Amino acid sequence: MAQGVVIIGVQWGDEGKGKIVDYYAREANIVARFQGGNNAGHTIVVGGKQYILHLIPSGVLHPHTECIVGSGVVVDPEVFLEEIETLKKLGIVDLEKRVRLSDRSHLILEYHKALDAAREGGGGGGKKIGTTKRGIGPTYEDRVARRGIRVADLFDKASFTEKFESNLKEKNFLLKEMYGCEPVSVERAVEKYSAIAEKLRPFVADTADHLTNQIAAGKKILYEGAQGVLLDVDYGTYPYVTSSQTLPSQCALGLGSRFPDNTLFMGVIKAYSTRVGEGPFVTELKDATGEKLRKTGNEFGATTGRPRRCGWLDLVAVRYALRVSGITRLAITKADVLSGFAELKVCVSYEHKGKRLTTVPAVTQHLEEVTPIYETVPGWEQSLVNVRSASDLPKSMWSYISYIEKFTGAKVSLISTGAGREAVIDIESAF
Ligand code: IMP
Repeated sequence: MAQGVVIIGVQWGDEGKGKIVDYYAREANIVARFQGGNNAGHTIVVGGKQYILHLIPSGVLHPHTECIVGSGVVVDPEVFLEEIETLKKLGIVDLEKRVRLSDRSHLILEYHKALDAAREGGGGGGKKIGTTKRGIGPTYEDRVARRGIRVADLFDKASFTEKFESNLKEKNFLLKEMYGCEPVSVERAVEKYSAIAEKLRPFVADTADHLTNQIAAGKKILYEGAQGVLLDVDYGTYPYVTSSQTLPSQCALGLGSRFPDNTLFMGVIKAYSTRVGEGPFVTELKDATGEKLRKTGNEFGATTGRPRRCGWLDLVAVRYALRVSGITRLAITKADVLSGFAELKVCVSYEHKGKRLTTVPAVTQHLEEVTPIYETVPGWEQSLVNVRSASDLPKSMWSYISYIEKFTGAKVSLISTGAGREAVIDIESAF
């Protein structure tokens, strides 16, 4: 029995982690986020009601669960407070008692969002990444450049103003001179963040210390990843990645606390592949099959509403992602979307200039140049909508699962067959 379970997206995000986290959160005492920010969009459907969470851990929907937003998360304080208000309106209770925000988290401020949007607008002539324009990249940049402003800084107005003003000299120069955008005003911003500080106060805590104590007390911890391994700043398809580390090893760093001795790393894969934003996507289908996946799977971004690019399952990329992250268990989502295909394809190697590749190359341009080599496997006609037990799954679906297990070496523990909380086939428990 594990005391810690890490849930990580294995592909390019959007694997449906929110639902899987919500499922395991039933058994957890604490759900903690350790990286990313409100670039994430975790959709959960409970009793026919849809919740989209961007910053607060998906575990919040269970009334007994405590939630932590760790220091590795970059926090837009306005979004944090808006999300709290939305949750309250939806009847989610005890948020001041249950949600804790690290005093060391870096703040996404107005100038970060303005810079993200300006760069993506192409004004400076830089490379378009297709970001969510939420200011994530510029905030992580400031963190390592040692000029970031953290949650704790909000509570000393004089020092906050000094730091903000000092940063703004450079940011406004870039915004005006390089990108031809409106500068950010100091006065307005300082007043705004002062008001925000008071509203944020009840949630702010030394979360690292708290989590360490809770782990020592034997509490069960669920770690909620955002984005996915292939968007990791080091191991993803660089530079078409997010700006944080998305791998399980980041949990300890992004929360300032050790792992429980017995911790399980679980990866979430969609039964096919999707990607939003720019960057290589070997198995992308720009044809009627891709359109069918998008339509049936309702593949539109939960954060930006952008249509997702769709394609067959890329097992080379999945196996690579599992190896760099140490994941041994898998949850497969959106299996229901594949019903009605006579046959399915899975990518088992790449061909690059006459050579076979069996893993993801470091040079992203090579990944753009490869041709996928596919194996074709039988599909299934049967709808999975009401299937709740493993023994009722179609035989060819089991072959698909076995193929994935054999190819990757990971064990499939959970299958999600629909958006609702109840649409889950639990093969092997995690906690
Ligand atoms: P950023 O994280 O907003 O800087 O965006 C960098 C890249 O990561 C872009 O391709 C985004 O579309 C992608 N991305 C960021 N967050 C998510 C997510 O939660 N799901 C899927 N893609 C994401």
